[in-house]
Amino acid sequence: MSGASSFAPEGGQGNLLIQKAQLLGAKGDFWVGDVLVQGGKITLVSPEIVLSTDEPISHIIDAQGLTLLPGAIDPQVHFREPGLEHKEDLFTASCACAAGGVTGFLEMPNTKPLTTTQATLDDKLQRAAQKCLVNYGFFIGATPENLPDLTEAHPTPGIKIFMGSMHGDLLIDTDAILEPIFARGSRLIAVHAEDHSRILSRRQLFAGQTDPAVHSQIQDVEAALLATKRALALSKKYQRRLHILHLSTGAEAQLLRSDKPSWVTAEVTPQHLLLNTSAYAEIGTLAQMNPPLREPEDNEILWQALLDGVIDFIATDHAPHTLEEKAQGYPNTPSGMPGVETSLPLMLTQAMQGRCTVAQVVNWMSANVAKAYGIPHKGLIAPGYDADLVLVDLTTYRPVRREQLHSKCGWSPFEGWNLTGWPVMTIVGGQIVYDRGQLNTEVRGQPLTFGG
Ligand code: DOR
Repeated sequence: MSGASSFAPEGGQGNLLIQKAQLLGAKGDFWVGDVLVQGGKITLVSPEIVLSTDEPISHIIDAQGLTLLPGAIDPQVHFREPGLEHKEDLFTASCACAAGGVTGFLEMPNTKPLTTTQATLDDKLQRAAQKCLVNYGFFIGATPENLPDLTEAHPTPGIKIFMGSMHGDLLIDTDAILEPIFARGSRLIAVHAEDHSRILSRRQLFAGQTDPAVHSQIQDVEAALLATKRALALSKKYQRRLHILHLSTGAEAQLLRSDKPSWVTAEVTPQHLLLNTSAYAEIGTLAQMNPPLREPEDNEILWQALLDGVIDFIATDHAPHTLEEKAQGYPNTPSGMPGVETSLPLMLTQAMQGRCTVAQVVNWMSANVAKAYGIPHKGLIAPGYDADLVLVDLTTYRPVRREQLHSKCGWSPFEGWNLTGWPVMTIVGGQIVYDRGQLNTEVRGQPLTFGG
């Protein structure tokens, strides 16, 4: 691209000019250019944009030395509202998103009440409209009784099935209930794939053990593999769109490498790429999650699967619990760890250290997520796309510090990790929601749409 572009902005609100940002080219190369945002949409991307009149533009942003990326969309989070707000709520979680460069999220149904009906889905959407600083979508959870809701509830990115790992009524572990869900309708089914009966029998085997490291042996590789195989078989039988959530084992990745229909996608979390069972010795129950952390070999195989496109994208499974809850002692401790605020810098640090490219991180955290869920106009910096953007600093390193995090739970399994690629500014729908440590809590996100 060359030459300057001239334009007359249409109004002030939601109109931004971002100047001299480092931008990703089509081949993953970087170039320096300007981005114009009008009415919340990207309208022009050019090496130099010259304003032709003095018409109002709310902000001219000097992005020299910074890199502009599409905002991340985190497709698996647990934001705890309603009912578990002592851990997190939609406001605090969306503040953490904004500070972490996450401009949209897809949230899971294991709240209180569970999100299993149109009414509970509507309730979450209303709450989000009132207090979410970033864009949002909510899964509908499968129970043994809500088949009609699963096909009809709207809008939702898909149906969440917990095949193992209990959340009350959300557990679905028999073919008698799984089959009709796969057989009816066509919307995406996202599975937490761990085999319930195997977990129960292994719990007996390890009863009385209080070392959190046994968590990875109770909910072992076989438990994950069994459930993933089962979901895959059902998806093939009914040619049903399937998404496998937080793939944790090398064995599952190898399975998908050899047998992944075109209508199946899979995700991995940064913690399953970057942490393993050695974390229990360092951070104890803070490392406890479902599916559990695995071995260093699993990290390697998962990375390779991600690089090769066997795994499609990244999700954090942000699952905050309070430090008090995490201090109760295994096995009374809840499983889960927060992640939305650190995922982008964690992955960009990997890119800067040569493990992958920045373009791959953008695909895994924005473009591929938008594509898989059919979220229109997201995941790319190009005219016509929504101005959900993050300006990151790829030159400075800063450690993860508990006191700087916005999640209500107030801790991170990555505390002390020295990361680069921290967001400097986050923009949602053309509005600056985070600017050098300051949140604009007046900004509100929009409901995401799916299937576009
Ligand atoms: O570790 C986890 N915790 N995994 C899940 O899938 C659920 C989550 C939670 O909600 O705490």
